Amino acid sequence: MLSRIVRPTISTARNFSTSNQNNFKVAVCGASGGIGQPLSLLLKINPLVSELSLYDIVHTPGVAADLSHIETASKVKGFNGPDNLAEALRNADVIIIPAGVPRKPGMTRDDLFNTNAGIVRDLAKVAAEVAPKALIGIITNPVNSAVPIACEVLKKAGKLDPKRVFGISTLDIVRANTFIAEAKGLNPKDVSVPVIGGHSGVTIIPLMSRATPSVSFPQDQLKALTVRIQEAGTEVVKAKAGAGSATLSMAYAGARFANSLLRGLKGESNVIEPAYVISDVTEAKYFSTPLLLGKNGIEKNLGLGQLSEFEQGLLKAALPELKKNIQAGEEFVNKS
Ligand code: NAI
Repeated sequence: MLSRIVRPTISTARNFSTSNQNNFKVAVCGASGGIGQPLSLLLKINPLVSELSLYDIVHTPGVAADLSHIETASKVKGFNGPDNLAEALRNADVIIIPAGVPRKPGMTRDDLFNTNAGIVRDLAKVAAEVAPKALIGIITNPVNSAVPIACEVLKKAGKLDPKRVFGISTLDIVRANTFIAEAKGLNPKDVSVPVIGGHSGVTIIPLMSRATPSVSFPQDQLKALTVRIQEAGTEVVKAKAGAGSATLSMAYAGARFANSLLRGLKGESNVIEPAYVISDVTEAKYFSTPLLLGKNGIEKNLGLGQLSEFEQGLLKAALPELKKNIQAGEEFVNKS
């Protein structure tokens, strides 16, 4: 049985401490975008960040100037365009990547592959050169293929450390916590639902049987809630009606995940977050399960744990899709 996933908090408190906890360089690639801007804001107020490096192909000087006026100790620098990418990423402790196009109504995450695959490949190439020790968190969709793309690029460069590359699936967990809390009349901050698998449609596997506090639903409600969690991104895409996909909730989720990476780097114990990583817990080469995070990224993959019969069915449905997505990512790098 897995221990409860510890919910990190994003501190907004002013921090006057001079201890060595405020000393991580975090780079955001795609920092001027719908996710990038609010994510950078949340990182600017994270006391574990001492240097915030904002990279994009447009608008970073403005975003950086704006954020630099916030009264926290971290230094903000903006880097615009590919010529400045290496400087932006150099010796970063953590690199978070929300660069690339989002969905419009009627699109699947896979429809983004053609544009976003090349973006992730090019960012990973430079990260391999100038920040080989960085923990890399990928938000760019399709996450299921983007993480294999980054890993193949790092492997080719001889810099792949499977403990350091993460697909950020935290938004699925955030949504599961919120929806289950709503359904049971609980405070979302007290609810913790592990979500495993990948980050698209049927590959998203919420483990309601392992929710904290323990919850149970009649089968039809369990199915409906599962589908709502799997399709929650589409709910936002439809509501935004052409203006993009989830940005604010994703920024929150990305900041939560980055904070967990930083708490692990700092040496805090019992930091557990699920993420989509190189994995041998199923027949898919990449899979999201709860991870114990530490000074080198993944300290321990906590594995699948006990699944209900319903969840075993979800896993069976997810694997073929996941394997196809992984193969597409690997082939993209190895053919190009
Ligand atoms: P956006 O279009 O608002 O922002 C994307 C940013 O990336 C833009 O500022 C753009 O200039 C920048 N960009 C484009 N090419 C770049 C390059 N080569 N290098 C650096 N930056 C580059 O899009 P939004 O809404 O911020 O979404 C970004 C990505 O995140 C999309 O792929 C979207 O599907 C994904 N996403 C992932 C989620 C997850 O749960 N993992 C949830 C929601 C969105």
